[in-house]
Amino acid sequence: MQRQATTSMLVSSIRPLLIPSCSAKTATRRMIHSSIRVRSHENPLGIPRRNPNPAPTLPRRGAGPPQKSRIKGVKQIVVVASGKGGVGKSTVAANLALSLLTTSPLPRAPRIGLLDLDIFGPSVPKLMGLENAGDPQLSDDNKLVPLQNHGVKTMSIGYLLPPNPENDSPVVWRGMMVMKAVQQLLFDVDWKSAVGQGKEDLDVLVVDMPPGTGDVQLSLGQLVSVDGAVIVSTPQDVALVDARKGVGMFNKVSIPMIGLLLNMSHFTCSSCSTPHELFGSSAKFEKAANDLKLDVLGKLPLVTSVSDGGDAGRPVMVQSSKEGEEVRSTMREVGRKVWEWLGSRTVPDLGVRG
Ligand SMILES: Nc1ncnc2c1ncn2[C@@H]1O[C@H](COP(=O)(O)OP(=O)(O)OP(=O)(O)O)[C@@H](O)[C@H]1O
Ligand SMILES: [Mg+2]
Repeated sequence: MQRQATTSMLVSSIRPLLIPSCSAKTATRRMIHSSIRVRSHENPLGIPRRNPNPAPTLPRRGAGPPQKSRIKGVKQIVVVASGKGGVGKSTVAANLALSLLTTSPLPRAPRIGLLDLDIFGPSVPKLMGLENAGDPQLSDDNKLVPLQNHGVKTMSIGYLLPPNPENDSPVVWRGMMVMKAVQQLLFDVDWKSAVGQGKEDLDVLVVDMPPGTGDVQLSLGQLVSVDGAVIVSTPQDVALVDARKGVGMFNKVSIPMIGLLLNMSHFTCSSCSTPHELFGSSAKFEKAANDLKLDVLGKLPLVTSVSDGGDAGRPVMVQSSKEGEEVRSTMREVGRKVWEWLGSRTVPDLGVRG
């Protein structure tokens, strides 16, 4: 019952696409399939036909950009992003959330959340060891209750999709459905509640962004007041170019930049103890940061226990392997810098949504 309610929340706003009486899990599946059907009706390649009667494109009088708001139950928000895919955003986001738990200047244990905004490739359930945690429950006021592990409350579209033991069914959604899902993840989660927890606001919500500079980034920047962004990049030119674009996009939507984080900067060979810059010199990265007038928050080495830990749902921050110590100490330093940034920031007086 609870399970059905949870998923039906997700699909409620696109109900016209669904058969009203079907169960919520079935509904979600139909939602996915109907998206494919719509696509195949348009033309075999799924490219939209030119609309013979295009809607007027002139802006309506008084229709400015949407008003930014804060998320209910969340004091401050930090996003982890990059223009490029696969550079380690999700890994950094999970480890940053865990690092914030141990580096807080607060006189009590901090309350940290992790929101996965990657609709097409959610990673948080796996990284946080919550892949088989079941569906999120609903709170009394019909909000999604986050799932928690390693002391961090989390939410992801991955918790809401139909079971997929093979992990091989992609989400095939049109932009409208993606944006509905993003809005629900942003505003329909009860961050104050979690099983066995008190009812206080989260101190920090870390948001794991999808790659690119598209709809999700734009919507987040326009709808939510974000307190700072950490941009992750690897040393290669292709990643740095996209990281610059990511910074440019966040500047456009007035998301303040905390700094850049270089991931996979080097690999230290166990036999010769020499750090090797496998993917290129970190000097290029430093120059890019300098050109953008941004701080370098840290340089994370390439370490097997980071990827193994991610796959096993035990991020390196909760491991004690000697190999991961350089990553842990760097991430603790990043955590302290993020707390310092957040502490120095005046929280804008905006409306709360959620
Ligand atoms: N410092 C590191 N050392 C070793 N492996 C790493 C490191 N950082 C990330 N990885 C591995 O690189 C892969 C990609 O990382 P991750 O999924 O976090 O990237 P992403 O930027 O979130 O990708 P996407 O753009 O697809 O969301 C994962 O297998 C992860 O375990
Ligand atoms: Mg990711």
